[in-house]
Amino acid sequence: AQKTEFQRALLAWYRVHQRKLPWRTAPSLYKTVVSELMLQQTQVKTVLPYLARWVEVFPNFKALAAASEEQVVKNWEGLGYYTRARNLHKLAKALIALPAIPETREAWMELPGIGPYTSAAITSISFGTRAAVVDGNVVRILTRLTADATPFRDSASASKALAPLADALLNHDEPGDHNQAMMELGATVCHRNNPLCTICPVLTLCSAGRNGDPESYPKLAAK
Ligand code: ADE
Repeated sequence: AQKTEFQRALLAWYRVHQRKLPWRTAPSLYKTVVSELMLQQTQVKTVLPYLARWVEVFPNFKALAAASEEQVVKNWEGLGYYTRARNLHKLAKALIALPAIPETREAWMELPGIGPYTSAAITSISFGTRAAVVDGNVVRILTRLTADATPFRDSASASKALAPLADALLNHDEPGDHNQAMMELGATVCHRNNPLCTICPVLTLCSAGRNGDPESYPKLAAK
């Protein structure tokens, strides 16, 4: 019953408070893929102008696949982590060579540059696949919800350890919105420092929030 209440409160909050972002207001698989790759290591605010220009220059997978590597890297300039740009280029080429766009997380995992986070984000948002995303935002929310004091070595091991809880909480009726709502809550309410617990839709379900020590989570292992 608690799980259901968490899902309900989260989604109700998201419906009202979500930011109007381009991959939400006029969604397409292409925009979802490009934005999730850009957002993997870069904040929303920084991504927005790059994404707008990107979809002008390369409006779809076909146009992107036909572009030169030089053009692709040039339009990524400033976002950093250029492997993402080269991978996105390879991904476009791989997708247009397929007879059909795959819709499962497992099939996406086989594609260039796609990992646990991007496969879950893309397939849940675009196809309603029941795959929970675990990024830094989600790690923060989940460790605070349960007051999980495990000292995680790094973000990858935290994500892996928390995947079962993320899966257990996933809303199977609306996995894409649930995942985006988790990331949105992390980005706009459940901040690393000074989280806005007074306006949090799931405060009553959150151990750390109720104890008044949300900033203690997640714990990092001493180096
Ligand atoms: N960060 C990565 N993907 C996101 C999304 N779809 N919404 C909000 N924040 C995100």
